[in-house]
Amino acid sequence: MSVFSETTRERAREIIARYPADRSRSALLPLLHLVQSEEGYVSPAGVEFCAEVLGLNKAQVGAVATFYTMYKRKPTGDYLVSVCTNTMCNVLGGQEVYDTLAEHLGVGHDETTADGKITLEHAECLAACDYGPVMTVNYDFFDGVDPQAALGVVEELRSGGRPMPTRGARLCTLREMAVQLAGFADEREGAVADGGPGEPSLRGLRLAEQHGISVPGFDPRTPIRSKAEADKAAAEAKAKAEAAKVEQTKAEAAAKPAPAPAAATSGSTTRDVKAPDDKSPEVRAAETRQPDASTAVPDAPGTKVPADSTTPAPRDAREAEAAGAAANPPAGDGKPAGDAAGAQERSLKEAEAQK
Ligand code: FES
Repeated sequence: MSVFSETTRERAREIIARYPADRSRSALLPLLHLVQSEEGYVSPAGVEFCAEVLGLNKAQVGAVATFYTMYKRKPTGDYLVSVCTNTMCNVLGGQEVYDTLAEHLGVGHDETTADGKITLEHAECLAACDYGPVMTVNYDFFDGVDPQAALGVVEELRSGGRPMPTRGARLCTLREMAVQLAGFADEREGAVADGGPGEPSLRGLRLAEQHGISVPGFDPRTPIRSKAEADKAAAEAKAKAEAAKVEQTKAEAAAKPAPAPAAATSGSTTRDVKAPDDKSPEVRAAETRQPDASTAVPDAPGTKVPADSTTPAPRDAREAEAAGAAANPPAGDGKPAGDAAGAQERSLKEAEAQK
């Protein structure tokens, strides 16, 4: 018997119905969030459930579930605390925040506290570098955190509170968040919040305005349309384009000369008109190139890129290969830089011998 409730099964049917009948496997990502919302992670039973409802095999589902870090493969706490330790946040103190939390909670990366409340992880860039160092709890942001602020958040969570993130709605549990990520509205009071972008995100725009830099034709006040509005506009544009095409066909038919008497002609009387060639010579030359193994690579070290469209000598490519291999020495950990150190050495020797 399935471990999944009828609600989850009903939601799974709803998710699949959002996709064209022959594209149902596209529903896999939201379905993985859905099974995670019931079990708190993507269990073997969750993988089997997704495979069953989508007509896939378990290996196909497992390949996706293990690729994305948002799908957890073992039981996860109510609150997933992710601390960005990538470059920007790190130089601003992200590692210190992470280390402080790890020591305080007594857990390491991807580990959960004994009370099952908090899972800690260090994260790569969380796409909020302008607010660094950042930490997220179930993907809601706490901007500009320091160790003390981070400790305050996790302590409030452990004592049953739901602190407000810097941006967005009040925190929810990971399972509740997974329901939203599966594409279902969170009906709780205050579960959804929106608002304009913060000043750090607008800094580039402000500087551009100060310096009179703008993108031609772009109005930053352009409203973001809803999907229904966008669909309507696309349908109108399509109808307009089709009407214009019909008009054009009619005009062309009216302008066409009357056909000559059948006895006098044996084919079309319309003169072939060559389309104007308005491509630049560089584009035209690039299109007609037929690169093969002996073609020089333009940006490889040591390559002599011909100034005109003449075919480069085969030797250029070998020199480029040798220069590229020489510029890519074995890594410091002793592993060969390429697939096989022996093959690389042989290539170098062959290139030298050809000179
Ligand atoms: S480096 Fe931390 S959000 Fe980008």
